[in-house]
Amino acid sequence: MLKAVILIGGPQKGTRFRPLSFEVPKPLFPVAGVPILQHHIEACAKVPNMKEILLIGFYQPNEELTRFMCNTQQELKISIRYLQEYSALGTGGGIYHFRDQIVSGSPEAFFVLNADVCSAFPLTEMLSFQKEHGEPNSFVILGTTSLNHCFTLRSRLLMFFIQVLHYVEKPSTFVSDIINCGVYLFTPDIFQHIGTVFQKNQQDMLLEEPTNGWHRAEAIRLEQDIFTALAGQGKLYVYKTLSFWSQIKSAGSAIYASRLYLNQYHTTHPERLASNKEGGPKISGNVYIHPTANIDPTATLGPNVSIGTGVTIGAGVRVRESIILHGATLQDHCCVLNSVVGWDSTIGKWARVEGTPSDPNPNDPYAKIDSETLFRDGKLTPSITILGCNVTIPSEVIILNSIVLPHKDLNRGFKNQIIL
Ligand code: GTP
Repeated sequence: MLKAVILIGGPQKGTRFRPLSFEVPKPLFPVAGVPILQHHIEACAKVPNMKEILLIGFYQPNEELTRFMCNTQQELKISIRYLQEYSALGTGGGIYHFRDQIVSGSPEAFFVLNADVCSAFPLTEMLSFQKEHGEPNSFVILGTTSLNHCFTLRSRLLMFFIQVLHYVEKPSTFVSDIINCGVYLFTPDIFQHIGTVFQKNQQDMLLEEPTNGWHRAEAIRLEQDIFTALAGQGKLYVYKTLSFWSQIKSAGSAIYASRLYLNQYHTTHPERLASNKEGGPKISGNVYIHPTANIDPTATLGPNVSIGTGVTIGAGVRVRESIILHGATLQDHCCVLNSVVGWDSTIGKWARVEGTPSDPNPNDPYAKIDSETLFRDGKLTPSITILGCNVTIPSEVIILNSIVLPHKDLNRGFKNQIIL
């Protein structure tokens, strides 16, 4: 049997997702209408013989996470449990700390997925690849090609010939065009390798001042501490995927990830895609609308629009490349482009809320979204517009490339600003 672990991080993570991660832990932020994590869980649940999905993180278990796990568990009929780290143990430390829970029931292998990626998650293909190409007990990393962003993409690069020969985390010079997708297939044997690093950390610490001991020995990064050591030993393999993949670091990348998942719904969940119906709004391209949303038939939505629970959209409204979160109201004839509209926010009549997309280069089939920085040369980088929760935008104003913190009642237009 098989298991899967999803690394969901904790409150100190997801800082580039502010102000949206103030309201909801980033893994529960909706992308293409459902929480980011749900895409991972649905992919895991489809793998034959998958018995259990473990979420490992350092969030305090809250009502939202518990409700999400309960609902998903019932819907997909698979066991989902949350294991809370006592502090951030890194991508390898968490799975090592909970190794007994992972190996209980004797799974022959388990997947580890980073929560902050969006992907078609070709997990079954990774399993077949391991059987065909790997040695017994070999480990598989999901890799993808990234040509032009090799220097700036905050991800890992590998050198490989199916087998990983050399692994460099966030290199500063060109190493290879294959990047690590943050999706792995391990056998329980991986814990021996993590254990070796743990013991070495402990020994190193005995020679130092005994401060914050356990935590420092247990904090282990899969990428730097484990893969770098395993490369070239005939244990680590790459399954290179041609299917879609992106990081979800910032709110801008969430809009891009929504586009990728909405597109995938044509094959996986056609029922989640809105269509043009008599008496309904005009739908252009891929759009998700929650059944509880109330939308005027003269509104035009899409492409790449996700409308959350209880959203109200008035007459003549235009929405494109945006995520509208639950309870928001878009009054008549307003226009929303490349933006995230926060929970319970209101946009006044004839107002225009617009951002600049942070899409990868459309002319490069292998381009990946970059980890854009918030500021460049002391100025806010033009990016998508984000309205935090419960923001009010008056009628007939323009909000352009701005981030509005929660509970703001604006009285005029803004351009390229963070409104605190
Ligand atoms: P950045 O570009 O700095 O974000 O680095 P990265 O892309 O390498 O991401 P990172 O390794 O920090 O995180 C990868 C995934 O692992 C994310 O989904 C995180 O939420 C998760 N993660 C990172 N650190 C921890 C940790 O200490 N514990 C747990 N449970 N998850 C973690």
